[in-house]
Amino acid sequence: MIRPFSLSDLNSILQIESQSFPKSPYDWTTFLHFHMLHPDTFLVCCNTHSRGEEILGYIIFSQDGHIISIAVHPLHRRKGIGARLLQKVMNIPNLQKAWAEVRRSNLGAQAFYLRMEFQIVGLVPNYYGNEDALIVQWTPPLPRR
Ligand SMILES: CC(C)(COP(=O)(O)OP(=O)(O)OC[C@H]1O[C@@H](n2cnc3c(N)ncnc32)[C@H](O)[C@@H]1OP(=O)(O)O)[C@@H](O)C(=O)NCCC(=O)NCCS
Repeated sequence: MIRPFSLSDLNSILQIESQSFPKSPYDWTTFLHFHMLHPDTFLVCCNTHSRGEEILGYIIFSQDGHIISIAVHPLHRRKGIGARLLQKVMNIPNLQKAWAEVRRSNLGAQAFYLRMEFQIVGLVPNYYGNEDALIVQWTPPLPRR
């Protein structure tokens, strides 16, 4: 199930974050900030079972298609969860483009975006301080006539 983030998800999100971005994890104040700015497009993917809910991953994006962050719990990768989260951006009505910044060293995420039909369209030197960002972008196909 994919649903909007709620405050009770924060601890799980912070754990996924520290495992996914060990060099520069967002802290809880940053996530609260994103929750206030993007209440409808800060989404979590979760499993519900008898012991309660398990948060498997999250995505934060803006309505104009900027993917601010996406991460899936390391134990649940390569199961299609990232793709399902990314589809939420790609399905925004009348979207002009979707784009994200990716560390040059993050080959896994680059392979993920390329598989999702994004293209590398640019590079921002030292975007992460001592590391460049690649800009990956997807534009919706033109409607068939
Ligand atoms: C990038 C990330 C969100 C992908 O999530 P995921 O749930 O594992 O992705 P999916 O299972 O939906 O992958 C879809 C396809 O993308 C490609 N792909 C995904 N991760 C890949 C990897 N590490 N290496 C190569 N290809 C990969 C594969 O083609 C995959 O399909 P397949 O498993 O059938 O071969 C996840 O690896 C992650 O959280 N990484 C750490 C955080 C991060 O780097 N976020 C992006 C920052 S810009």
